[in-house]
Amino acid sequence: KVLGGCRLSGEVKISGAKNAALPILAASLLTADNLVLHNVPRLSDIRTMNKLLAGLGAQVDSQDETVILNAKNLTTLEAPYDLVKTMRASILVLGPMLARYGEAKVSLPGGCAIGARPVDQHIKGLQAMGAEVYIEHGYVIAKGCLKGAHIVTDMVTVGGTENLMMAATLAEGKTVLENAAREPEVVDLANCLIAMGAKIKGAGTPVIEIEGVPSLHGAEYNILPDRIEAGSFLVAALMTQGDVTVTHVAPHTLDIVMDKLREAGGVIEFGDDWIRARIDRRPKAVNIRTVPHPGFPTDMQAQFMALNCIAEGTGRVTETIFENRFMHVPELQRLGANISVEGHTAVVTGVERLSGANLMATDLRASASLVMAALVASGTSVVDRIYHLDRGYDHMELKLSQLGAKIERIS
Ligand code: EPZ
Repeated sequence: KVLGGCRLSGEVKISGAKNAALPILAASLLTADNLVLHNVPRLSDIRTMNKLLAGLGAQVDSQDETVILNAKNLTTLEAPYDLVKTMRASILVLGPMLARYGEAKVSLPGGCAIGARPVDQHIKGLQAMGAEVYIEHGYVIAKGCLKGAHIVTDMVTVGGTENLMMAATLAEGKTVLENAAREPEVVDLANCLIAMGAKIKGAGTPVIEIEGVPSLHGAEYNILPDRIEAGSFLVAALMTQGDVTVTHVAPHTLDIVMDKLREAGGVIEFGDDWIRARIDRRPKAVNIRTVPHPGFPTDMQAQFMALNCIAEGTGRVTETIFENRFMHVPELQRLGANISVEGHTAVVTGVERLSGANLMATDLRASASLVMAALVASGTSVVDRIYHLDRGYDHMELKLSQLGAKIERIS
């Protein structure tokens, strides 16, 4: 429940990156030793991954933002549908499990609100490494001893790059991943794997080379700060004409987002591990086109659309990664936003004031954009189905309250 009309101001600590922690948790399957992870965000998706790993027989000890994992003695190599259906990232256990045990059975993730999100590139890459992979009764079944291969994915895929990179660490010989994803979370996974003894070069570039090794050892690793959580708070700062500093961040994972915030009229400063965003006037509308990193991130699209709803002028938002990532549009229109969708582009003309309404969250980043829009809408808004929000934001309402927002979680 949000009462609009506040200016956000103050400091907020950003949590570890969900999209780095999820593949890195799965990487625990690659070793018989302990993997000790710090700065792990307290999110429902993380709890789901921990439950999935424990279900396979791994020891998982989660204390606050530290998780200690040991996958020495798995009791099954099957990731069941009832867990996988709640979180697509479960597919990330396929590569590590196959690489270490020569066998894996993972339920197909199934559809998702923002698009079909198939895993054909994950399968194609594992087959190129010599695995026998087929689909039966809604499960991906993979068997075989992996050998290095030269793989070119049909499109840039974050999860595909991560699954194949993990599998390649224990394959025999050298694997080259071309058209690899360059997201900072892919680099964070590579750095953790290297700490575990993997031989990886080129993470963060379009070509990653992995030299297989017989086994990986344990490691202790700090998860990268979440650039999307940080970006979300910085956008909210400009929307409410506030002054917010996000701390415990990695500023250079947000270069293009900081540029867009400046384009919107924000005064953006940053240091080693903090970014400050402030503005004392109505923000200006910006044009957004989502593309793979280092371009503008699709996970920030909904948030900037919310900014455009109350900005001065008209902004065009084009989504090129997912085929159905505009579900926040009808909800924002309920607040009085002026948006028209033409194919993959939404044309947003800013209005002076939004007016509070009852809203329904549909997917993770859409729900963040609805909360942010409610902060600047006149009167009260209620956002329903915020389990979507809890998947990717650690107690967002508490962090926003600390910044002066009038927001509470109601049962
Ligand atoms: C990751 O999803 C992130 N999730 C997403 O964040 C993010 O939006 C996405 O990357 C793009 O940056 C995690 O890291 C856990 P993709 P992923 O494979 O790996 C198509 C959030 O809000 N594709 O890069 O599933 C796919 O359909 C979430 O935190 C295939 O066709 O994304 C999509 O259109 C949402 N075949 C495009 O590629 C494949 O085998 C990019 O998908 C794989 C992908």
